[in-house]
Amino acid sequence: VPLAAVAGKDVTTVEGLADGDGRHLLQQAFIDLQAGQCGYCLSGILMAAKALLDVEAHPSRGDVLAALDGNLCRCGAHDRIVRAVQLAGERMARG
Ligand code: FES
Repeated sequence: VPLAAVAGKDVTTVEGLADGDGRHLLQQAFIDLQAGQCGYCLSGILMAAKALLDVEAHPSRGDVLAALDGNLCRCGAHDRIVRAVQLAGERMARG
């Protein structure tokens, strides 16, 4: 995203997901399902997943795939990533 496109707007980065020392439910779901391997892709994937879960608490597999379409994981952890996003959505909906 070009910097000019977000001028004057609030921007949350992956570092802003955590609540102090506590992990965000998305981060915890990725850990629980071992959805990350090298971690190279995870910043973008976590933020795209957060944007999805902000509008769809219970995304289908297709919803997750569409939301993460621009994010590539060279480690091939795609299936676990999809399941981790759905697990986080379930946990977030429970509060
Ligand atoms: S976990 Fe390595 S690129 Fe995705």
